[in-house]
Amino acid sequence: MPPIRGAIQCAAVVDDAVFPSMTYERWRKAFEPKALGSNNLHEQLPHDMDFLIFLSSSSGIIGNRGQANYSAGNCFQDALARHRTELGMHSVSIDFGLVLGAGMVAENEVLLDTMKSSGFIGIRIQDALSILDRAMARPGMEPNMHVPAQIVTAVGTGGLTIQNQPSDPFWTRTALFRYLNQVDAPPHGLHSKTHQAASQDLQSAICMAATIEEASQAVCKALIATVARRKGMVPGDFDQHQSLGSYGIDSLDSIFLLGWISRETGVTLQTVEGVAIAELSQTIARRVLQAVEEDRQ
Ligand SMILES: NC(=O)c1ccc[n+]([C@@H]2O[C@H](COP(=O)([O-])OP(=O)(O)OC[C@H]3O[C@@H](n4cnc5c(N)ncnc54)[C@H](OP(=O)(O)O)[C@@H]3O)[C@@H](O)[C@H]2O)c1
Repeated sequence: MPPIRGAIQCAAVVDDAVFPSMTYERWRKAFEPKALGSNNLHEQLPHDMDFLIFLSSSSGIIGNRGQANYSAGNCFQDALARHRTELGMHSVSIDFGLVLGAGMVAENEVLLDTMKSSGFIGIRIQDALSILDRAMARPGMEPNMHVPAQIVTAVGTGGLTIQNQPSDPFWTRTALFRYLNQVDAPPHGLHSKTHQAASQDLQSAICMAATIEEASQAVCKALIATVARRKGMVPGDFDQHQSLGSYGIDSLDSIFLLGWISRETGVTLQTVEGVAIAELSQTIARRVLQAVEEDRQ
């Protein structure tokens, strides 16, 4: 056999769970093919190859909820590519997010919907292959072309995030994204004012309602719209006399909704499951009105 000139590490297993319920076995299942698998290739393959590419994921960059195991494996690959580059070997970790029509997302519609509503910007398979093509080229092969040890895709600029309206772009609230959030964004302050206005809108709708039923309906409408967007459904699919649990709300959705309720209304709840949507909405409306009353006194 001729010498091995390059390798692309594509192994991945996704096994999502919120961290408190992630067993060590589940941690290993997603972490090891990426971390141990990549390290094995690093140690066993010839050191003079033209390239060793890791197909990593931007899940490691944003800290995707429920993917601590997978994210850690991807971060390992990113660090390993940098380490190899420092040793003079050509290595690139490509953090893909959502490659449309390929691999695990092509086979799993639920995963595709969740990733889209979570705010990952999809790229076409042709574009993913172009990036891969570039990453394989050794430094200096083409003039003026610098390929860094890590390429991150799928995490949008501030403008794209606003345009796509993901249900909860939680990573944009971290310091890491402070600069990217400003790229393509509307003039300073406009978006934050818009967001502030949205949450104030819900709070004022509750406060201005003539009756508690009217206030509860305002919460119910906003809550259903939020859940529908997250689950890729339409508001008409929901019956407010049913609990959210009957619409396939899992523990990650629950964490997201508790955060949304807290941000939009200032109300802290322990759970959103087990009660009808109408009842949950009424509890939130009552708590908002109670807080306003307490502020007045
Ligand atoms: N598709 C996307 O949108 C997307 C987004 C971000 C990142 N990525 C990254 O791109 C790469 C390819 O993803 P994909 O969508 O093509 O995934 P995929 O279709 O699920 O393929 C994963 C591959 O990994 C292999 N594998 C699993 N466990 C392994 C182990 N312990 N040792 C060796 N091989 C193992 C699987 O082999 P078997 O089939 O034999 O089990 C399968 O061929 C992954 O590294 C993933 O993190 C993909």
